[in-house]
Amino acid sequence: MVHKKFYLHCTQCGYDVPDFGEWFAHMQKCPKCGCTVVDVQYNRDNKEIKDLINAKNGEATSVWHYFDFLPLNDISNAISRGEGVIPLDNWKFLENYAKKTYGLTIKVHAYRNDLNQGTGTFKDVAAAVAASVLKENGVKEYCVASTGNIANAFAHYLAEAGISLSVFVPNDALIANEAEVNSYGQRLYRVDGDYALAKKVAAEYSQKFKVLMSGGNTDPMRVEAKKTMVFEWLRQIGEVPNVYVQALSGGTGPIAIEKAYKDLKGLGLVDKMPRFIMVQPSGCAPMTHGWEKAKEQGFPEGWLNQYPIYENPVTKVPTLATGKPGTYPIIAKLVKETSGEIIEFNETHLVDVARLIAFETTVRIGPAAAIAVGGFFESLHQGHIKEGDHVLINVGEGVRRAPDFVEEMIYTTRHINSVDDCERFDREDLRSQLWNKINQIYQ
Ligand SMILES: Cc1ncc(COP(=O)(O)O)c(C=O)c1O
Ligand SMILES: [Zn+2]
Repeated sequence: MVHKKFYLHCTQCGYDVPDFGEWFAHMQKCPKCGCTVVDVQYNRDNKEIKDLINAKNGEATSVWHYFDFLPLNDISNAISRGEGVIPLDNWKFLENYAKKTYGLTIKVHAYRNDLNQGTGTFKDVAAAVAASVLKENGVKEYCVASTGNIANAFAHYLAEAGISLSVFVPNDALIANEAEVNSYGQRLYRVDGDYALAKKVAAEYSQKFKVLMSGGNTDPMRVEAKKTMVFEWLRQIGEVPNVYVQALSGGTGPIAIEKAYKDLKGLGLVDKMPRFIMVQPSGCAPMTHGWEKAKEQGFPEGWLNQYPIYENPVTKVPTLATGKPGTYPIIAKLVKETSGEIIEFNETHLVDVARLIAFETTVRIGPAAAIAVGGFFESLHQGHIKEGDHVLINVGEGVRRAPDFVEEMIYTTRHINSVDDCERFDREDLRSQLWNKINQIYQ
């Protein structure tokens, strides 16, 4: 038998699917038991990850730095736009805030997914790996249901791979999203309903036309791609922060982090997984509500399967509008295991957060990323961040994908008729105004 680079291990029955050819031929189900969740395992010594993690900055230029531990056989099939190797910025101003307001000494890093060069969100790595694997396996047509960012990223990277993509978005998806998908010449279906309906129609399309559909948050191509973020944190700052804050829709982040920990097992590079602090927008927070109830009741038997389903959720962050959170049992379990939390952030304050971040750092974050940063403030307020913590905030998207949101950030303009209406300007004067907005939330 040929010594294969990797295989897909069924998490339910233990069958080893030899390659993506068989996986795709069975419409991404285990041929033995029908399970849709597999772990990619590599036929190589995981000690080699250490060398990759020791690479200097110039040596890693994209997610493909980790090719040896990604499920692609031939590097010539790799599609890339320099995604995945993005900086972790030390956000001292948040450290100072935690000290001043809560007396806590903490470290804060922001993971700059806005700098991904594909579409400027943390979905770019997933799309780069998926496009490459699909190309390698001769897939010509693909479909995906998305609340927005996956749509953009897949549209872009699959176009680069010459693969036709049909995207199914809910009726509240941003026009900017629709435009971006269209601009790459991919098909967009705007479904008259919510994300749950978009997923349903996409699944029916997949069945009807025998077109492969993205497997969602547990899709092995996506999980493998996203696990590399843990490798990058180790490479760049030498440790995995002990608190991980991310905006939550379906929850690929925690699933991917757990997979990275499996890959790193026995290497002595990581210890416990970080505490997962997952943040939902107040307009669509079913996982938060399920979690809060379970916590109140002391996590009774069967709690993982008890969560609300919100039809047609109304939120300012359509990207996070998963009203029917099918992955709750997986995510809530991981959150519990890591002593984390699922919280919500009041989305009426999103623009205040984004203005403050842009003022302090010149980083312009999108609405979903503002939910994560807002979640940091909320976590401090609720006492979920402790003395000595090292917090990583996953800034999942830049502002480029939400032009309306940029417009909402306007606040310094003065309308004038002549120079008589002008005055000297010191931008420092804006600082207290912006911080007051945050402080007011927690008065
Ligand atoms: C910027 C950003 N943050 C967070 C999320 C939530 O990701 P997940 O579906 O992995 O929970 C998304 C999903 O689209 C996103 O685009
Ligand atoms: Zn199986």
